[in-house]
Amino acid sequence: MPTAEHDGLARRCPACGAVRQQIPEYSVSAEFYDVLHGAEYRRSALELAAPAAAARLGIVELGAGTGLVTEVLVSASSVPVHVVEPAAAMRAVLLSRLAAAGPDTLGRVTVHPCPAQQLGLAAQADLAVCLRVIAGLPPVERRSVWHSAATWLLPGGLLLVDRPPRHLPAEPRQRVVGEVRIGIDTYTARLTEHPKGDHVQLDYTYLVRRQGRVIRRAEETFHQWPLTDEELDRELADAGFRLEGEQTPGVLRLRRLDHQDVITHRN
Ligand SMILES: C[S@@+](CC[C@H](N)C(=O)[O-])C[C@H]1O[C@@H](n2cnc3c(N)ncnc32)[C@H](O)[C@@H]1O
Repeated sequence: MPTAEHDGLARRCPACGAVRQQIPEYSVSAEFYDVLHGAEYRRSALELAAPAAAARLGIVELGAGTGLVTEVLVSASSVPVHVVEPAAAMRAVLLSRLAAAGPDTLGRVTVHPCPAQQLGLAAQADLAVCLRVIAGLPPVERRSVWHSAATWLLPGGLLLVDRPPRHLPAEPRQRVVGEVRIGIDTYTARLTEHPKGDHVQLDYTYLVRRQGRVIRRAEETFHQWPLTDEELDRELADAGFRLEGEQTPGVLRLRRLDHQDVITHRN
């Protein structure tokens, strides 16, 4: 049986030579995700209620994480919702959230525990949503995800995705992410971004303080790949999408073209 060769970012299958994404585990970050990001991400997800309400066939959310966006998509819509989440730690929070939401939600949402590239769901959606995922995919996987999304959507369907950064930071930079009080403790994270060749390494250090003293410290590292406008245009055209504009600042509206439109768009 072939074993995978890991370099921390991707793994190469010795049988077929394909470089696949090393899916981040979120085994540390899942615990802190909603505490530190929940308020902001829930607020911005509300902007997607209108496109979700307009869906007539189905919705796919890829990289649903803990379900902060899923919750809005499900409550605003009345169609089947397929959520894709490969990381078990994030999925545990997502499933708990869905279970607490009641029978209407449980009857309409299907959770797929695989990477988006492996989701076979031909023409079952008119809306796909992907927030805070694309930048974390190595280029080969990112291109594969555009093509997968095109298969899930009907021609004319809409893909909403936040635009990855255009450039690497010129030098390492650090910032504090969130600061939330829970009982007598304060939760926060320090994020350090290190440019490394074609990508940026994101080191998260989670800190829990009690009366000013650090009582817990936990770390997890992620990676992001920037994408120029030219690369983005080329990848979208190859996968059969047209950039229509922005749904909200930084969230792109990508229209799935039909076959004839793809040919015209490429020429
Ligand atoms: C930063 S979280 C964003 C979660 C959620 N979209 C949100 O905005 O709160 C990125 C999520 O993408 C998932 N992910 C990473 N690679 C993926 C892939 N190839 N297919 C689907 N999901 C993926 C991760 O497991 C993680 O839960």
